[in-house]
Amino acid sequence: MKGIILAGGQGTRLYPLTAALNKHLLPVYNKPMIYYPLSVLMLAGIREILIISRPDDMPYFQKMLADGSQWGLQLQYAAQAQPNGIAEALIIGEKFIGDGTVSLTLGDNIFYGSMLTDRLRQAALISHGALVYAYRIMNPKGYAVLDFSRNPDGTILPHSIEEKPAKPKSTFAIPGLYFYDNQVVEMVKSLKPSPRGELEITDINNLYLKQGRLVVEDLGRGVAWLDAGTHETLFQAATFVQAVEERQGMMISCPEEIAYRLGYISAATLSSLLERLPNNPYKQYLLTLVAGSL
Ligand code: DAU
Repeated sequence: MKGIILAGGQGTRLYPLTAALNKHLLPVYNKPMIYYPLSVLMLAGIREILIISRPDDMPYFQKMLADGSQWGLQLQYAAQAQPNGIAEALIIGEKFIGDGTVSLTLGDNIFYGSMLTDRLRQAALISHGALVYAYRIMNPKGYAVLDFSRNPDGTILPHSIEEKPAKPKSTFAIPGLYFYDNQVVEMVKSLKPSPRGELEITDINNLYLKQGRLVVEDLGRGVAWLDAGTHETLFQAATFVQAVEERQGMMISCPEEIAYRLGYISAATLSSLLERLPNNPYKQYLLTLVAGSL
């Protein structure tokens, strides 16, 4: 499976932070925002990843992440000229996706929690249809909201998904992490822009649903899903990461650590990587990891 991170858009809700800087380069506590979705794809076992952003912002991502080989990844970059909608990522990424399956994630979505890696690895094995998650939140209005019932075994039976409904039919939102079979590319090409002028990822998910090919899994309360798209949620995300990291002494979404633990890079590669890092707590953390004391 290949992965796409969508990291474009205007970041209007975060202005003036985004007047000169792409939102996904902003800090979430001690790491750039894009490290978090990148780590999620890495944990899912996905190592070929396309990063889509605004043409002007591309050099900054390339400077930060390079070709990914330092972390055992193959990173590619593509431009989205205008924020024409999340689903457009799958058209921009058509060649990159080729004839395989794909996971699309939003650059401002953060996931962390118990058993998450196993769940992601399972999701990445999908060969037919689509898989998305549902997550209970207090105020779902600003998200895609799922109307559903439960099967006798407690699993979700989806009825429909509405994008940013005025009157949400449930308190379950669909987070920005999607797994698709190869048909998604042709399906997106058949989409018409919504009244707000965007190719909506929710329209794609509803198409799969109508075909009876959409699996919706409850992410559950053991997983934290945060988005960092507003001043409030960016601040909350940073506070969350700080609280967990300080308590545990373990980092959330540190690509070097994930690459090492999953065997994408060797101890020798990590050590030589560390020689080039400035001496700060991030490097100290990774030195502890190489020394085997984490
Ligand atoms: O966070 C999950 C929600 O994300 C989902 O529940 C919604 O269904 C989905 O539409 C989306 O809602 P948002 O209002 O958060 O979408 P936003 O416009 O903020 O875009 C999400 C990310 O994708 C953001 O980091 C910017 C990027 N983006 C967005 C669009 C529309 C692009 O790079 N290009 C785009 O054209």
